[in-house]
Amino acid sequence: MSNKERILFLRNELAEHNHSYYVLDTPLISDFEFDKLLAELQQLEDVSADLFDSNSPTQRVGGAVLDGFTAIKHNYRMLSLGNTYSDEDLHDFDARLRKLSDQDFEYVCELKYDGVSISLTYENGQLTQALTRGDGTQGDDVTANVRTIKSIPLKLKGDYPDNFVIRGEVFLPIIGLVQMNKQREKEGLEQYANPRNTASGSLKLLDAKEVAKRPLDCYLYYLLGESLPSTNHYNNLQKAKDWGFKISIEIEKHKTISDVLNFINKWDKKRQDLPYEIDGIVIKVNDIDLQQEMGFTAKSPRWAISYKFKAEQVSTILQEITYQVGRTGAITPIANLYPVQLAGTTVRRASLHNADQIAKLDIREGDKVFVEKGGEVIPKVVAVELKDRNVFSQHTAYIQHCPSCATELVRRDGDAKHYCPNPETCPAQIAGKFGHFISRKAMNIDGLGRETIELLIAEGLISEISDLYHLKKEELLPLERMAEKSAKNLLLGLEESKKIPFERVLYALGIRHVGETVARTLAKHFKTIEEIISADIVMLIAVDEIGEKIAESVVLYFSQQQNRDLIFNLETAGLQFSSSIEDASVSEILKGMKIVVSGVFSQFSRVEFKKMIEEHGGKNVSSISKNITFVLSGDNMGPSKHQKAIDLGIPFVDEEEFLAKIS
Ligand code: IVH
Repeated sequence: MSNKERILFLRNELAEHNHSYYVLDTPLISDFEFDKLLAELQQLEDVSADLFDSNSPTQRVGGAVLDGFTAIKHNYRMLSLGNTYSDEDLHDFDARLRKLSDQDFEYVCELKYDGVSISLTYENGQLTQALTRGDGTQGDDVTANVRTIKSIPLKLKGDYPDNFVIRGEVFLPIIGLVQMNKQREKEGLEQYANPRNTASGSLKLLDAKEVAKRPLDCYLYYLLGESLPSTNHYNNLQKAKDWGFKISIEIEKHKTISDVLNFINKWDKKRQDLPYEIDGIVIKVNDIDLQQEMGFTAKSPRWAISYKFKAEQVSTILQEITYQVGRTGAITPIANLYPVQLAGTTVRRASLHNADQIAKLDIREGDKVFVEKGGEVIPKVVAVELKDRNVFSQHTAYIQHCPSCATELVRRDGDAKHYCPNPETCPAQIAGKFGHFISRKAMNIDGLGRETIELLIAEGLISEISDLYHLKKEELLPLERMAEKSAKNLLLGLEESKKIPFERVLYALGIRHVGETVARTLAKHFKTIEEIISADIVMLIAVDEIGEKIAESVVLYFSQQQNRDLIFNLETAGLQFSSSIEDASVSEILKGMKIVVSGVFSQFSRVEFKKMIEEHGGKNVSSISKNITFVLSGDNMGPSKHQKAIDLGIPFVDEEEFLAKIS
């Protein structure tokens, strides 16, 4: 056997043993034997540099230390899931979906692993890229770190598609955390608080050799690609298991929500016995075409949801109720608590949501209350211990006036919150708007913080956002704690912010319901602020992922003269109000069309065709459904896709015809 043959043999052999040990949990040889084979492979590779393979089992130990991670665009956006917390929420989810579909369907129930999500790309059976979620559009390239996770196959077996993405959760088994903490104790280091944070911190280490020492694991739960083996999610996962992925055995298909609830209740009890942490159950529609039809909102798929288990609770004393005024004028009552430990952090404050919530639970100052940490970062008060209540305690009288500007509060129909109706002069709202505008994800203005904003407002130097861009050094210098250098920094930060792209300026305006993602969608679609201002509700709703609530809020915002004045002033100051997002739109010839690209082409690649579709206003869709306008079909199109298109009467267009159409 030549060196080359032996190397290839050993790589295969070791990959098999890795799979048996880390995925199937049934080692076939001892650790000693494994190490011996690995050492032999390493020796042979050392003298055969030309046979280097980044997916060789020897590469699982990590290589060079990185300077940082590169951000890379996801091929498919990486969304999160909507959360539900009760049976009722879940029935609502089911009712929504039944309305969207005229056919019967089934759900797939899975455990919701509490770790960090990861997106893996495989080309020709080789792991080529691993990205973190990042902002959902682009993530960090953590491939080197992921190669060290033994249960993730570097090379696949069997009959896998040439090119696909598989997503899953990297997690640290509980025993792994215990072992790591034991070691850290010996070394006099601080203990890691919980498996999830440790897993996510580990993936972000710049030295893969360090990552390799951590016993990370990974379950995969979602496949994406052009030529997946099946048109249902469950079967795809079973296939992925054959290719070498670690797929949970605790996955079940159910036809009704009551069966789904049984699955949930079973795991709520059994989860303590699992060797890793889960924080809920994920429920997905099994049929992929149906998933496609149900579609997505801006943040999450409509066809899947997570059910979160009840979070950890503690009791403590509610010392005082205070009120916060947000940038939109919304009032949030805050419970100031006797400090208490909850899920690894000290809790001093919790949200009380609104007046109804306080009334419903009859929450009073001095009460012993139960506090819970749900999916949100801010804990909430969920119940009161009535039997411990002081007999002299007083009902909570909700405030009637704004704690910041004393204006009488209003409560609009259908809104649970009270609002301060004085956006023009309420100091809290003004400070809140400025705070949002300068924040990192918005204009990210260096040298300007919340305190300085408050000072500038108090000194009468700024009252609306565009005033920031007229600040002068001479005005700043007399201010407290404002030295030459900090004044210069602030002005420089403002100047730099003029380069911030339109989508972030749009987000920075703080329009209700226009978060980062929605701002990006609007900027990409309408391209200029003028177009957005003149769009009506119908035009807004026509944009993918924009619903009625967002559309109404956008229209309302721009209908107000003071907001249009603000835009004018900011535009005059030099801020970006037109889009630079890969605006490569060439024509609108395919506008409104949903197109599936499938098969192998001779003149351009699939990716290039997809780009052309976007450039000409069309939308790429990955699987066949009745909504598809046509299939751009090449050679060797997958037989099931082909048949389905025929069954649904969807026209086929070949590459010649397509190119003629768009030219
Ligand atoms: S599916 C489009 N399945 O939960 C569907 N997610 O809160 C994408 N997660 O971002 C996700 N277990 O990090 C899915 N069995 C499971 C999951 C799961 C854990 C995580 C994942 C996701 C988050 C959403």
